[in-house]
Amino acid sequence: MLTLYDRVEQPPTMCAQYCISFADVEKARANIEDFIHLTPVLTSSILNQVAGRNLFFKCELFQKTGSFKIRGALNAIRDLIPATSEGKKPKAVVTHSSGNHGQALTYAAKLEGIPAYIVVPKTAPNCKKLAIQAYGASIVYSEQSDESRENVTKRILKETEGIMIHPNQEPTVIAGQGTIALEVLNQVPLVDALVVPVGGGGMVAGIAIAVKALRPSVKVYAAEPLNADDCYQSKLKGELIPNPYSPETIADGVKSSIGLNTWPIIRDLVDDVFTVTEDEIKHATQLVWERMKLLIEPTAGVGVAAVLSPHFQAVSPEVKNICIVLSGGNVDLASLTWVKQAERPAPYQSVCF
Ligand SMILES: Cc1ncc(COP(=O)(O)O)c(C=O)c1O
Repeated sequence: MLTLYDRVEQPPTMCAQYCISFADVEKARANIEDFIHLTPVLTSSILNQVAGRNLFFKCELFQKTGSFKIRGALNAIRDLIPATSEGKKPKAVVTHSSGNHGQALTYAAKLEGIPAYIVVPKTAPNCKKLAIQAYGASIVYSEQSDESRENVTKRILKETEGIMIHPNQEPTVIAGQGTIALEVLNQVPLVDALVVPVGGGGMVAGIAIAVKALRPSVKVYAAEPLNADDCYQSKLKGELIPNPYSPETIADGVKSSIGLNTWPIIRDLVDDVFTVTEDEIKHATQLVWERMKLLIEPTAGVGVAAVLSPHFQAVSPEVKNICIVLSGGNVDLASLTWVKQAERPAPYQSVCF
């Protein structure tokens, strides 16, 4: 069997201008691999048919805590506590999160016996709030705005003397998310492209660092809701342009904007960004539930929607084998009032449900 390194096209390079290097992703893998699942890659002939390409689904919905976020959170925590520094544990870890990073950080902190304080917008899905509590964190509520979130986080950091673990700009978090790519390159040796939902950009940046170090010809595409298209706008204008206001999208995991650490990596190493409408996200999510029987959350449906969108037709047919990261499965079932509401547009009409 080929190993990852058999497929290296050129030696990994260190890029001084980025907040992480490929070596950080490798270190992250060593930090976390004994604690996480090697998630499966699944296929679906019906989805191949709809997309007109070979699709591979990296099932991070089956990851511990129900999303890829445990990779970055655990790497960050383990990086804070070198094996030799027993007794030097941080007093607390603190973060703000719409949900998945909060759950993951709480789980990772618990493994090390560190209290976790999670700042959550009041509007976050109930299942995510309950899960964070169930993992044993203290939840602190903020308003939806970035300003309120930042202010509450600062207050909690001061009160607890804790350490902030940012959900998507913390370098060790970005490196942890990059470990997805190490697995995909082994699991799908002939992969031509990875499609990754983008919020703050930690996942796509980590993946891009690893992919471009090991297999630069493999494309890395970001996928985001049209209603939260800061990544698309930033790439278009060549400068960091955050969402001007809190976006309205069903894909609650990708409401945040890319930031100062992830932008340079996205600018240079992400090949393209595809935006999708709310209806496209809903249809793609429902399609995966019904055809693949995978309970993904709508944020994970963003990548699927991108590949099925008319814009994606412009991608060269040579990009045949595409791996979509199904990034999470923490669905608030009580919130699914939108199911069946919208009419199915092409290309879904050809699919027999
Ligand atoms: C399920 C899911 N997918 C994708 C993302 C986007 O990740 P990032 O913020 O690193 O771009 C998130 C972020 O919370 C998420 O929860």
